[in-house]
Amino acid sequence: MQRLAILASGSGSNAEKIMEHFQKSKKASVALIASNKTDVFVLERAKKFQVPTFTFSRKEMQEGKLLEKLKQEKIDWVILAGFLLKIPEDLIRAFPDRMVNIHPALLPNYGGKGMYGMHVHEAVKAAGDESTGITIHLVNENYDEGKIIFQAATAIDPSDTPEDIAQKVHALEHRYFPEVIDSLIK
Ligand code: GAR
Repeated sequence: MQRLAILASGSGSNAEKIMEHFQKSKKASVALIASNKTDVFVLERAKKFQVPTFTFSRKEMQEGKLLEKLKQEKIDWVILAGFLLKIPEDLIRAFPDRMVNIHPALLPNYGGKGMYGMHVHEAVKAAGDESTGITIHLVNENYDEGKIIFQAATAIDPSDTPEDIAQKVHALEHRYFPEVIDSLIK
């Protein structure tokens, strides 16, 4: 049985879909929800699924506390689902080809520093793009530049607001992220 840890900094709607998906799986289970915030909804969602949680500060992560915890919990795969801190290199190196991120746009567009959450959808709207989508990729030292595993696109209507775009992107994420993770796990 492979053990997954999900790192999330916010609401955790993707984390919930992943917990739901692996609830009855015979090959993997969500063993930990870890967050750099103590007051975010993802921690409530974890309770609902009786998944243990772990919270840490940026400094503690940089000092190796998160890596220590992941080792202690014998984690095989690290899933970033709306995790907004830069991951230290030693942590990335500890999970070669076993750290997966979801990005709410079609990389290489709208990636890099400052491009997260609503900032991405606002930039897509401002550019007048006719479509956007999701990218699921492995994490390497340059955050949004790891090997792309999966992308899916959705059309943008000229009348769509950034919030409408966010909703469309979330729908794609919820539909595909759990099954793409499942397909990676042998
Ligand atoms: C998701 O849309 C995810 O793609 C994005 O944060 C959102 C989290 O939503 N991640 C990034 O922007 C990372 N650069 P959720 O908390 O409801 O799953």
